Amino acid sequence: MYAALKSIGAYIPEKVLTNKDFETMVDTTDEWIVKRTGIKERHIAAKDELTSDMGVEAAKIAIQRAGLKINDIDMIVCATISPDYLCMPSTACVIASKLGRTNVTAFDISAACTGFIYALAVAKAFIESGMKKNVLIVGAEKLSAIVDYDDRTTCVLFGDGAGAAVVSATKKRSEAITDIHISADGNYGDLLMTPGCGVKHPCSENIVEEKLCTMKMKGNETFKIAVRTLTSDVVNILNDNGLDAQEIKHFIPHQANYRIIKAVGDALKMSSDQVVLTVHKYGNTSSASIPMAMNDIWENGRLQQGDTMLLDAFGGGLTWGSALLPFAGKPAK
Ligand code: ACO
Repeated sequence: MYAALKSIGAYIPEKVLTNKDFETMVDTTDEWIVKRTGIKERHIAAKDELTSDMGVEAAKIAIQRAGLKINDIDMIVCATISPDYLCMPSTACVIASKLGRTNVTAFDISAACTGFIYALAVAKAFIESGMKKNVLIVGAEKLSAIVDYDDRTTCVLFGDGAGAAVVSATKKRSEAITDIHISADGNYGDLLMTPGCGVKHPCSENIVEEKLCTMKMKGNETFKIAVRTLTSDVVNILNDNGLDAQEIKHFIPHQANYRIIKAVGDALKMSSDQVVLTVHKYGNTSSASIPMAMNDIWENGRLQQGDTMLLDAFGGGLTWGSALLPFAGKPAK
């Protein structure tokens, strides 16, 4: 039995925060943000809109596009670093409940921006082992809830949203997810972290006052490792599978920074029509960024059945990963 990605869906919150808006909030300019990151705007969830709510909306679309009903789903995996609750219940359990699905395997994955690729690997393993048939994977983030809007070095980067996909068992080799690499190096954990409100620094007045429950990033150091790691990871997965970068139809990298994406694309000599870009309109949505980007090219008709996709992500942990797979769902157009 093989595992195939059968559908994609996404949810993008309505409210838009532009670079101009940030000019009134912190010492920054539209010019700096565009030049250093490529980001022009990002979407922000409503106050009462939770990570699970966005995940549910994306999930409903993905399940419907896979031609399935919620009771056909036998496992739900949610990748997120902005869960509804710090410890429990998991956001996957909340999503299951909101979808009306009980008695189902459900759990979260914490691998920051690489979360969706980790979830895809888990779905593939469960399906190939024969344990599950239809796995719903969700990448959902309300990063606006864990951003320090007084810190110009991080607040301009992040946005909210969700993406979801259904991975199903198939006997057709041509539909199968070809390969996935997932990896981590915890020695660099301090480059990108939310230091407070875990067991190390339990929630207290001090922790809240110092905003230690928000994301802190050593951006410049992270940038250099990101370019190096993303490039070598993609080279390795292509080599392992005897493919040239030019044979990839859609390169869908994590959308953190246009300069990182361009550096990796250039190193691989990819043309601009191979590289999927959404960072300008969504910013960095961590685990949601790859499925949101995949949904974009599906909805505009660019992603067709059988197209080879190469996913590549890097994030806090540090974690990184890549995936090589055909799109096994129906096209939108
Ligand atoms: N507006 C204006 N100036 C700013 C801003 C801002 N919003 N932010 C920083 N600056 C200033 C800095 O203070 C610094 O000033 P100084 O030279 O006087 O000290 C200057 O700009 C340069 O700062 P750098 O941090 O060196 O800027 P850099 O070019 O590296 O860009 C950025 C910063 C965009 C964060 C970049 O380093 C980056 O994208 N890093 C990687 C992010 C990433 O991939 N993270 C992993 C995934 S995210 C996840 O897992 C959740």
